[in-house]
Amino acid sequence: MIKKAVFPVGGLGTRFLPATKAIPKEMLPVVDRPLIQYAVDEAYAAGIRQMIFITGRHKRAIGDHYDAAFELEYELERGSKKELLDLVHAIKPDDMDCVFIRQARPLGLGHAVLCSESVVGNEPFAVLLADDLMVGPAGGPSVLQQMVRAYEQNPGTVLAVQDVPREDTRRYGVVDVHGVNDTMAEVFGMVEKPVPAVAPSTLAVAGRYILSPSVFETIRRQDRGAGGEIQLTDGIAALIGTEKVYAYRYEGKRYDCGNKAGFLEATIDLALADPSLRNVVLAHIQNIAANTPPAGH
Ligand code: UTP
Repeated sequence: MIKKAVFPVGGLGTRFLPATKAIPKEMLPVVDRPLIQYAVDEAYAAGIRQMIFITGRHKRAIGDHYDAAFELEYELERGSKKELLDLVHAIKPDDMDCVFIRQARPLGLGHAVLCSESVVGNEPFAVLLADDLMVGPAGGPSVLQQMVRAYEQNPGTVLAVQDVPREDTRRYGVVDVHGVNDTMAEVFGMVEKPVPAVAPSTLAVAGRYILSPSVFETIRRQDRGAGGEIQLTDGIAALIGTEKVYAYRYEGKRYDCGNKAGFLEATIDLALADPSLRNVVLAHIQNIAANTPPAGH
């Protein structure tokens, strides 16, 4: 039922400067795949076939990643490097359609989503922020797949949420909820980056959404919000009361790869999950632990 996914990749990625001066943050690799590929693969696994990228300046590498690479493919074929060729082909399966839209100025996440309106049209759609790398339970459904299933049970806007320590609420959009069941709750209010004392809960919105197309109208009507940006949170909050908005507590782990610490955690965990790297990484960590004096010495 959800056929289109929007990937807002128009941000400046200033927290990763200087690496992101000429390369988009979404092309930074975790082990061997760029961040954007984890998100696109997750959408594909959830049955979505049309990928809509909202790009900005310096984002050409993302377009190139989802384009054919004639010389590379020719060389791999000539060298009979079939495994590598399969890896390259798997980036964009034949039934995947990619659309690129330019966000002329990075006016905020809400504005980026609004840029997708002419391609999304009047149907529910997914939004994935590639800098949130989501790993579903081992052998289980991806986070977006879980959300699509939840949407099928309870059609409406569905937000992925996770519990965070109260002192961290100022880093997230936070929801005010009434329980529906263990994993789904109806949202009655939403605040972007509240200070802990006024946060309505400790349920924070992660970078996965299934949105009603009515959100285009609410984003268009709203003023600039927190940080002077056109916020997606405000657009979603304006739906509450006229349409159902749900918080979905997903199963899996989120890595905030928009900051260095989260990016490093993802790199270590995904390397440890890779059988070809696990032993060498573990040996390296054990070596560091054995040779590093405790802090303060
Ligand atoms: P961030 O708040 O992480 O901003 O955006 P950023 O510019 O990417 O990174 P920093 O803070 O400068 O390091 C959250 C998401 O919204 C997208 C970003 O690409 C990211 O996926 N975004 C943000 C847009 O697509 N357009 C915008 O105008 C703003």
